[in-house]
Amino acid sequence: MEPVETGVAPPVPTVGSEAHESGTPSPDLAAVGSPAPFACAEPIYVAQTGASVDVPVLADQHVDTLGAAPAPKQVHIGWTGDPSASMTMIWRTDAETLSSLVQIGPDAAFGATLPGSSFLLGTDTADGRVHEARVCGLAPGTTWHYRVGGEGAWSEAYSFTTAPPPGSTEPFVFGVAGDSRGSPGTWTAVLAGMASHGVELRLFTGDAVVQGSRVYEWDDWYDAGAGYIESVPTMMVNGNHEGLAQPYFALSAHPGNEEWYSFDYGNVHFATWNDSVASTTDWTTQSSWLAADLAATAQPWKVVFHHKPAYSGCRPNGEDANVRTWFVPVEEVGGVQLDVAGHNHNYERSVPLLGGVEVPQAEGVTYVVTAGAGAPLYENNQALSYTALSVEAHHYLVGVVEGGQMTLSAYDLAGNLLDVFTLAP
Ligand SMILES: [Fe+2]
Repeated sequence: MEPVETGVAPPVPTVGSEAHESGTPSPDLAAVGSPAPFACAEPIYVAQTGASVDVPVLADQHVDTLGAAPAPKQVHIGWTGDPSASMTMIWRTDAETLSSLVQIGPDAAFGATLPGSSFLLGTDTADGRVHEARVCGLAPGTTWHYRVGGEGAWSEAYSFTTAPPPGSTEPFVFGVAGDSRGSPGTWTAVLAGMASHGVELRLFTGDAVVQGSRVYEWDDWYDAGAGYIESVPTMMVNGNHEGLAQPYFALSAHPGNEEWYSFDYGNVHFATWNDSVASTTDWTTQSSWLAADLAATAQPWKVVFHHKPAYSGCRPNGEDANVRTWFVPVEEVGGVQLDVAGHNHNYERSVPLLGGVEVPQAEGVTYVVTAGAGAPLYENNQALSYTALSVEAHHYLVGVVEGGQMTLSAYDLAGNLLDVFTLAP
């Protein structure tokens, strides 16, 4: 059995960012059209350890303060707001570098310079500062060019494309993988495989690292993503190996409390929660939240991703009783078509299920386990009554959404097709 970490849920964010101006468009971009990028109004979540051993302090706008190693590292992006109109950039520097800026625009000339924030991360690394910048006011379905850092220490120039407008039936491609822990090289191969299929966003089903509190493991994980994570957002969940440790929160960009959240991309509503709960997080809070969240969306597609599977024939972990009790009924009532989990190191797909009984696809939930991004494979798959397919292989999942059809394909790291199936809303 995998060890269960004993992290403690962090407090709801209370530390605001005085580095952020609320929402007026940058005057620098007046000439490049509307809408133009501006700094987001919501505060940046400054992660703290559960026991509050570290008390990170926000930098103020020392835009010209550079340390000995100010070059931005591990630049990566995610969403804390609307994927069609915003982006969040995170990067690392040495602890002394306080300059924390993003330049962004519709072409390589950028046009707007916006402030970020920074805070210290942990105590087990000399490269201890995390920088985060949030950009709002972006046009949907548009490619944006950006760089981060500050004068004298800019990163390379990167680009990303915003999501189409919410509700759009424009086709798009998403990738899903999980459980890379202990094998950053395999994670790189997974990222390369996903890129070959043109994924526009990535979901990660947890257990990126063996021990979530070890910053050096996260360094390995983000270093392994170079060339991929700067341009395609990654949305994660907390696995039992993350243990709700500070780096999970500090280094990822998610909406809300970053532990359970949802977002829309095109006509798909994606939602996630933390099924490796700690003492201060209970099941009812998240279950109630998910029910309300699913009830509130008008999107025809509802996809949930989380760590521990509700249905899995892979032993020893098997199915998670709490997920079945607290989330499966909510998913069924809420009209979820696809549930993607990790934790059990193989690939599995169930038949469509309602109350544990096979039903026509559109009437039930299809459950997939994708936990093949590097952790040692489990060798004890069992075909149970609900098992459509199980494969022991390192792999990743690619979803192609084309309006009223979603095609999911699982590939191994040699590019071989392991499974393909289609869903209708
Ligand atoms: Fe796990």
